[in-house]
Amino acid sequence: MRKNIVAGNWKMNTTLAEGVGLAKDVNEALKNATPKCDVVICVPFTHLASVAAAIDTDKLGLGAENCADHVKGAYTGEVSAPMVASTGAKYVILGHSERRQYYGETSEILKEKVNLALAENLTPIFCIGEVLEQREDGTYNEVVTKQIEEALFDLTAEDFSKLVLAYEPVWAIGTGKTATAEQAEDMHAHIRSVIAGKYGKEVADNTSILYGGSCKPSNAAELFAKPDVDGGLIGGAALDAASFMGIVNAFKEIFSLKR
Ligand code: PGA
Repeated sequence: MRKNIVAGNWKMNTTLAEGVGLAKDVNEALKNATPKCDVVICVPFTHLASVAAAIDTDKLGLGAENCADHVKGAYTGEVSAPMVASTGAKYVILGHSERRQYYGETSEILKEKVNLALAENLTPIFCIGEVLEQREDGTYNEVVTKQIEEALFDLTAEDFSKLVLAYEPVWAIGTGKTATAEQAEDMHAHIRSVIAGKYGKEVADNTSILYGGSCKPSNAAELFAKPDVDGGLIGGAALDAASFMGIVNAFKEIFSLKR
């Protein structure tokens, strides 16, 4: 059965000292908790090794926010999947809308990144989602289908099964405007049916699909209670240990309802 996961995406926030402090706070909070989900923090490259040394990575998974589309060589300023894996990280966010929008990441580029991450046994948290205009003109299902097909459908079923997906409607990211639980559920069910169409029901049923976009302690339980929403990718609310743990603990409230 698929896993429930709450993953933080710190983006370009925190100095090294602040980041290690935040990671330690989350790690400490988890010591006394029995979360009903896997908990992951995805942090800036510069923080990975120090955070890995400061936390119990068996209890608190560690990930990067990106990796390069080349394995090594003359790519000044880039950080490769093997470099990420060498820090102790186990996850990598790929295809975040901010990477697509501001850094021109196309499906072709993302395909390479996914392959390189999988080759290092990193779990890609692969992001998809429509912009406001596509939500309003009603093309959102096709947009998300295309993002999945273009970047991921060359994978074997075995490799596809190693992915985590994150549906993040771009209009909900950092805006305070969350998708309703119904909008999230509709899209997650759609995504699962697209996966089932290509890889079959078993692979689809076993794929964790997270929701991202202004998820916070006050709305997490409602979102996570939906049958196809398997957790969250959390930006702003992951920058404070108490609010992040509030979201992690949302699974306690609804666990008995879902499984
Ligand atoms: P947000 O970001 O929670 O701040 O909206 C989510 C994300 O971009 O992953």
